[in-house]
Amino acid sequence: LAKIEIKLADIPEGKSVTFKWRGKPLFIRHRTAEEIDAEKNVAVSSLRDPQHDHERVQRPEFLVVIGVCTHLGCVPIANSGDFGGYYCPCHGSHYDASGRIRKGPAPLNLEVPTYEYVDDLLIVG
Ligand code: FES
Repeated sequence: LAKIEIKLADIPEGKSVTFKWRGKPLFIRHRTAEEIDAEKNVAVSSLRDPQHDHERVQRPEFLVVIGVCTHLGCVPIANSGDFGGYYCPCHGSHYDASGRIRKGPAPLNLEVPTYEYVDDLLIVG
C-alpha cells in the first residue's frame, strides 16, 4: 500500500497543510508552542472521546490526522471553530488542535494514521 513521505520543513509553524493519501485528505499541522501547551492541559475527563494529547502525537510539534469528519465524512476546515483546530461546516463539529472532538455531532476524534519519523521526514502509511 502506498506510503507518503513529507518533508517536515515544508510545514510552516502555525499552519495545517493538506495532502492526499489513499484517496483521503491528510492533515499535518505544525503546532505552535501555545497550541501544544493548551492541548496538553485539556482535562481528558471532559472529552467525548477521551484521549490525552500525548496519545495522539509522536512529536508534540506535529499533529497528523485523517481529514475526514467522524460524523458523516465531510472535510473539516483548518484553524477554524471554537477550539482553534478544525471545524466541519456540514453540521458544525468543532475539533481542537489535537484533532479531538469538542462540540457538535461527531462521535469520535479525527483518526490518527500509522506514521513514523525518519530524520526530517514524516512517513505516513
Ligand atoms: Fe462533519 Fe456532520 S459531517 S459535522
